[in-house]
Parts: sequence; C-alpha cells; structure tokens
Amino acid sequence: MKSSNLQKILSNTNQYPPSEDTFFLADNIENEKGFSALDIGTGSGFLADLLSKNFSIVVGTDLSFSVLVNQSYKIQNSICCNGADALDYKFDLIVCNMPYLATDEIIDITTDGGIDGLEIPIRIIQSAKLCLSDHGKFLFITSTLSNYKKLIEFVELQGMSADIISRKKLFFEELLLICAQN
Ligand SMILES: C[S@@+](CC[C@H](N)C(=O)[O-])C[C@H]1O[C@@H](n2cnc3c(N)ncnc32)[C@H](O)[C@@H]1O
Repeated sequence: MKSSNLQKILSNTNQYPPSEDTFFLADNIENEKGFSALDIGTGSGFLADLLSKNFSIVVGTDLSFSVLVNQSYKIQNSICCNGADALDYKFDLIVCNMPYLATDEIIDITTDGGIDGLEIPIRIIQSAKLCLSDHGKFLFITSTLSNYKKLIEFVELQGMSADIISRKKLFFEELLLICAQN
C-alpha cells in the first residue's frame, strides 16, 4: 500500500453511521449470549454497545483511531488495529460489518472492500480466525454485489465452515449474513 494512502486511512475521521447493514447484523445478534465478544470495524460502536447487554467482555477494534476517539456509542474496550491483529484472545462471538463494496481502489475505508469486494474482507477474516474460540461463531456481512461465493470459498480454505444464515433484500442487492466456525 502507498504511504500516502496509508496516511489517508489513518487520519480518516468519517464515522459510518448505523445503516441498513448495521441494523441487519444487529437484528441477528441481539439474542446472542456468552462471555466474550469482539466487534471488528466497530465504527460508531453501535454493535459493540448492543453486545455489551449480553456479554461480560466486549472489545471493539477499528483501523481508524479518530473514529474510535469520536464514537457515538462509547465502548469500554476499543483498540485501533487491523482486524483483530492486536489481540491474543479467543472470543465466543466475533461480529463484523466489514467494508465489502467491490472497488478498484480503497478510497473510503468505511465501505471499500477492494477488487471483487474481497481484499479487505480477506484480511479481516484471516485476522479474526486466530481470535475465534473452538466453539465460537464469526458473523459477518457481505453483499450479492461482491464476489461472495469466492469469499465463502476463501473462508472454507482457511479450515472454517461458512454458511449464509440470513439475507436482506435492498434495491439493487441482497445483504448476506455469513456464519463462519472453526
Ligand atoms: C461499514 S463500517 C461499519 C461500522 C459499524 N460496525 C456499523 O456496523 O455501523 C466498517 C468499519 O470498519 C473499519 N475498518 C475498515 N477496515 C478495517 C480493518 N482492516 N480493520 C479494522 N477496522 C476496519 C472502518 O473504519 C469502519 O469503521
């Protein structure tokens, strides 16, 4: 990655407001319970805040430090890193409303997933896998506008199962909720 791009990413102050995909994921996790949960790409903190009702420990990560500092839903444990790279812990539940849009370049880190909508999701999945407990679930969002079949294949190549467990129709696409397990 070019250093000018990296600088832009690290100084990104755009907080992604809770949106259709946030609420779709929220609807599917509100009844999840356990000891520890991780929200990768926590942004506003909306999902981490929701998880804190049913989990004793909740951690949120985000690539953007300024987004974490200015969170609308302040969470107790936030860490600025790629995916879960700074963590050495196995969580019961990991959630991620990841940047999944298919884009030629990564210009907006809140939404741009790179070529086929795979580049950023792949990095996040590789990182999340290492922090998922043996009985844990990793729930993440993608879209039918991205190459979701290739993404599912990638998850399986990492030795995890991957199932589409929920779908939400929008105007031009369907949001997909994927459940990955070790
Ligand atoms: C689509 S927004 C979701 C925000 C929030 N979780 C929600 O559902 O409303 C994606 C978030 O992931 C963050 N992000 C992008 N790439 C990341 C990465 N490699 N590791 C961690 N966070 C990342 C962005 O800064 C942004 O806050």
